[in-house]
Amino acid sequence: MTDSPQQRHAALAEEIRRHDRAYYVEAQPTISDRDYDKLYRELLDLEAAQPQLRTADSPSQRVGGAPIDGFETVRHAMPMMSLDNTYSQEEVRDFVVRVQKLLPGEPLEWLVEPKADGVAISLRFEDGLFTLGTTRGDGIAGDDVTANLRTIRTIPLRLNALGQADAPGVLEVRGEVIMTRSGFAQLNRERADAGEPLFANPRNATAGSLKQLDSALVARRPLDIVLYGSGEIIGGPAIDSQSGLLDALGQLGFRTPQHTWCCSGVDDVLDAIAELDRVRPGFDYDTDGAVIKLNRFDLRERVGATAKAPRWAMAFKYAPEQTQTKLNAITVQVGRTGTLTPVAELEPAFLDGSTISRATLHNEDEIARKDIRVGDTVLIEKRGDVIPGVISVLRELRPAGAEPFDMQGATGGRCPECGGEIRKDEAFVAWRCINLQCPAQAAQRLEHFAARAALDIECLGDIVSDKLVERQLARGPMDLFGLTVEQLGPLNLGTDDEPRMFGEKNATKLVESVARARGMGLDRWLFALAIPEMGRTIAGSLGKFHDDLPAVAASPLLRNVIALDEKVAETVRINPRSRKNRPNSDADKAKREQQYKNLVAEIREMLGGLVSLGFAKISKENGSHPPNYTTEVGPSVARSVLDWFASGIGHATLERLAKLGIDPRGDRPGGGVFDGKTFVITGTLPTMSRDEAKAKIEATGGKTTGTVSKKTDYLLAGEKAGSKLAKAKALEIPILDEATFLELCGGE
Ligand code: IVH
Repeated sequence: MTDSPQQRHAALAEEIRRHDRAYYVEAQPTISDRDYDKLYRELLDLEAAQPQLRTADSPSQRVGGAPIDGFETVRHAMPMMSLDNTYSQEEVRDFVVRVQKLLPGEPLEWLVEPKADGVAISLRFEDGLFTLGTTRGDGIAGDDVTANLRTIRTIPLRLNALGQADAPGVLEVRGEVIMTRSGFAQLNRERADAGEPLFANPRNATAGSLKQLDSALVARRPLDIVLYGSGEIIGGPAIDSQSGLLDALGQLGFRTPQHTWCCSGVDDVLDAIAELDRVRPGFDYDTDGAVIKLNRFDLRERVGATAKAPRWAMAFKYAPEQTQTKLNAITVQVGRTGTLTPVAELEPAFLDGSTISRATLHNEDEIARKDIRVGDTVLIEKRGDVIPGVISVLRELRPAGAEPFDMQGATGGRCPECGGEIRKDEAFVAWRCINLQCPAQAAQRLEHFAARAALDIECLGDIVSDKLVERQLARGPMDLFGLTVEQLGPLNLGTDDEPRMFGEKNATKLVESVARARGMGLDRWLFALAIPEMGRTIAGSLGKFHDDLPAVAASPLLRNVIALDEKVAETVRINPRSRKNRPNSDADKAKREQQYKNLVAEIREMLGGLVSLGFAKISKENGSHPPNYTTEVGPSVARSVLDWFASGIGHATLERLAKLGIDPRGDRPGGGVFDGKTFVITGTLPTMSRDEAKAKIEATGGKTTGTVSKKTDYLLAGEKAGSKLAKAKALEIPILDEATFLELCGGE
């Protein structure tokens, strides 16, 4: 007899859960990816045919649901406490002695566990089903992030013990959501490709992911979880120790710390802490310490807790791993926008699981502040971050004659890539190569132009970009619009000895996506052009406030942001109440106060304009002083954007775009049927007053002027229209009566 769909679904779900556990929790897959996909597909098909099979604990329910507006706050059934921290072995000794004093005569057993560096959460299971997942919050109440946590494969949606007679009715387990190092590296690579900001470390990436309101997005983040504690438990077999808890959690299907040490005295504990420090670089997630816990639960109860933390546990934090090595040289790298970044070339040193031979030095000021010189022995550190940094210099080891670094001297005032002029803008700490034809920038500009968050051009990664520049097929992004499949197909991406052709298929994809890019919106274009300081968010916001690229180039909004900033700086300079600025006579004082007042009034007026357009917000009213405010984009970005459009490359780009017939459009909200159209109203309209008509025109995106000219798009004409009507007729401008006008406005 064949199974019913219900039976088949249950069997499939069970089998998939088993494979999930083997793959995700035990890291020992028992089936090939293909066979797994087959089972999963069959499960999805069954659920598509019979939606009632799609229960909350089905393995299909990990892909995330609809976005939500915000998280609900939920009170924890039992508080989630934190731990007392220390960096000192002495304090670990004191802690052990203190607990022993509270439990005289008891032989104590300690469990030492890795302290996972992630985000603390609590998971609640009722009758074996995952019902609630919360963040720690303030320890008393946290955010309900159940939908996000469901997407984590190592959280069982139903417990292995389900159906067993002694399964707990309620089980709260606690642990840490983490991101594996490899998952983190991959995520950042993808973000770099998409031109999105990188996460500094796996913990930030984890916290950022859990805060997402769209769980479908979270499902794509490589999150994982490690469980090490419990909250409320009702029913189930009694658990009387930490080691017993970890065993039970493992049996129920949870991932628990893979290494723990059971210790009987403080020396044992300190040995375990040292050993954990040796092995943790090999873990697939970041740890920042060891947690020392009294093993037996009955003894824990006897020592109790303070208001914040239990007395029976303590966290020992490892100092971030550092090592010494020699700084052999400082080289200079050229970034996408021409920024010159000094890089420390180090004598290779082993640190936190990998060999480090380079570290970022950020910029010239940073080098001066730390007084870092070539030949120095430096202390380098890696805090789980991807790029290691130079912390300090061991001055006593400095060789005689070591010279301070200066960018001008190191580069001879020339870009290391193109030999072009470099310049340090007063407003920036960074030096920049100002040759916009610099090949380092040219290739990187092409690659950036093609990034997913920019114009999403397929088959145009770093290698192809480099080759296009090298073979002089493209010097800038605009050249892409002239490329053909015939030119690109035979492009050799390899060497003369080992040729590797780009191929017709890839070339076609590239050319097709270049063609698609023509129709993309203003925000993507603004981002794609690699304008200094133009990130995704800023491009998005400028795209909302402008109609097209020339409008950004001449943006009154950006000019006002700059003017406003200058005026505010001026108020600081002339403020008569400032101690530096004391007026020297009463007459002078009165004059200066008046000047100050006038300036504040000007600022208010200008700010009022920006606020009414939604481009600025007042964050604090300051009485007779300028109010505190924020603008959609700041003055430094505004300057950078306007400077770029005013530069040779900016002009050339706008010209080329116009010639190519490319005109990216903004998505100004409120745009309507008459977006950008100019009206003249004349005569008496049958039902509407002039003001009403004007308001309607503006509400649908248009504007009105008083005189008919070639630039007029429509004449709205009523009774007794005179010379304007005649002129419009002469210029062949469309003439609308009120009824037609209202009809065109439709429901708007
Ligand atoms: S036990 C009442 N064990 O460290 C004690 N915490 O600094 C609850 N953490 O909030 C914590 N790994 O987020 C414990 N093996 C581990 C841990 C661990 C990481 C985190 C946890 C806690 C914080 C305290």
